[in-house]
Amino acid sequence: MDNINKTYFIQTFGCQMNEHDSEKIAGMLEEQGFVAAEEREGAGIIIMNTCSVRENANNHFFGQLGVVKNIKEKHPGTLVAVCGCMMQQKEIVETLKAKYGWVDIAFGTMNIPEFPQLLAERLEEQKRVISIKESQDTVDDGIGALRKFRHKSFVNIMNGCNNFCTYCIVPYTRGREMSRTPEDIVNEVRWLAEDGVKEVTLLGQNVNSYGNGCDFDCDFASLIYRVAEVEGIERIRFMTSHPKDLSDRLIEAFTKCDKLCHHIHLPVQCGSSRILEKMNRHYTKESYINLVDRLRAAVPDIVITTDIIVGFPGETEEDFQETLDLVNRVEYDSAFTFLYSIRTGTPAATMPDQIPEDVKHDRFDRLVDAINSITARKNALYVGRTEKVLIDGKSQRGGSGMCTGRTDGFKLVNFPCPAERIGNIAEVRITGANTFSLTGELI
Ligand code: SAH
Ligand code: SF4
Ligand code: F3S
Repeated sequence: MDNINKTYFIQTFGCQMNEHDSEKIAGMLEEQGFVAAEEREGAGIIIMNTCSVRENANNHFFGQLGVVKNIKEKHPGTLVAVCGCMMQQKEIVETLKAKYGWVDIAFGTMNIPEFPQLLAERLEEQKRVISIKESQDTVDDGIGALRKFRHKSFVNIMNGCNNFCTYCIVPYTRGREMSRTPEDIVNEVRWLAEDGVKEVTLLGQNVNSYGNGCDFDCDFASLIYRVAEVEGIERIRFMTSHPKDLSDRLIEAFTKCDKLCHHIHLPVQCGSSRILEKMNRHYTKESYINLVDRLRAAVPDIVITTDIIVGFPGETEEDFQETLDLVNRVEYDSAFTFLYSIRTGTPAATMPDQIPEDVKHDRFDRLVDAINSITARKNALYVGRTEKVLIDGKSQRGGSGMCTGRTDGFKLVNFPCPAERIGNIAEVRITGANTFSLTGELI
């Protein structure tokens, strides 16, 4: 392996879990003496970590794969590896085998620790290597992952999903839900803290069901308290939280655990109870609003963000109005909005009354307008306040001398700041606000 071009370029297409998987792959490559390439073209190995959540993510991947083919034609020594959620879809792997024979390595979401062996195999035998597990009985750790930030890290607390929301492909690509033991998680967090990490984001498709059906006795709230005991950790965040399983103990943890940040991403998906039922979400508009009220009563400054899908099959204008009404009542700090995308193999894909694209787009635009005006209004309330900001790095905006960071509530702030302070928490007075970020000055 010593006489090959030991540079790598990883392209990440998906969510935080996908991103964290890329960090693990990068960590393994660096362990073997590889270094990150500045550009994709010219890298010794190009890795594409795919996402299947929406059809355009699929299309985007195949588009990119075409470009990578040209790169490989120009630089024949380049190795190409593909991994991530799309590899768990049989028809995709069949397509790769049939039409993309030049791809060197393909591996699944549960095969990441095998990557070094797969690479060695490919180099020794000079033939394509494919390894895809359908299920798993352990959850990999993230020790050795190459973090994007020195001072903060993702920590996987569980894999998979058992919820089978009718639109969603994730339960098919990530397998059944499985929690790591609290001891394993705390060990990893300790290791991270010793390595300079101050903020951890606990990751799971639904962290609220952490520990369900496990031999150990530790629910998500207890896990937070245990992680909070680790010296050196100053902030704890988590993603994502399904409204149906959010416990009173978690609400209480926001008030009792100083390290737990006052932000919750609480995907609602839709404001119509009728559609929520068809989505298999197990809550109603009313119960969701009640949950938000209880969170706000306990934690008045909590920042609430969400995901919303428009154009689920059968969604009428009245259903959509319910979503607008919910958005106006909850007043989200921000929201990710998605056009419903048919995922073959999911129950919603074959439901009647699929919504025409123009109707979806029209609703999407109206929803985004409503959300952006709420976001701008809510952000403006921060002007004049002092916020604790974890300084993440130099800002791309506002010229040199500007840094960027996140408030406890996860709001993005840009402010003038010396680079030596990156990685620390500072008090910042908020002086300005717009829809997507705040501006401020160090105190
Ligand atoms: N486990 C997380 C979400 C994972 S997917 C949760 O349940 O909150 C991230 C988001 O993608 C979802 O919240 C949903 O809003 C969106 N999404 C998932 N499947 C989709 C589809 N078929 N079409 C459009 N958006 C989708
Ligand atoms: Fe998908 Fe629902 Fe699981 Fe989230 S909870 S990953 S939306 S099936
Ligand atoms: Fe994430 Fe996309 Fe897979 S959202 S879990 S990378 S399908």
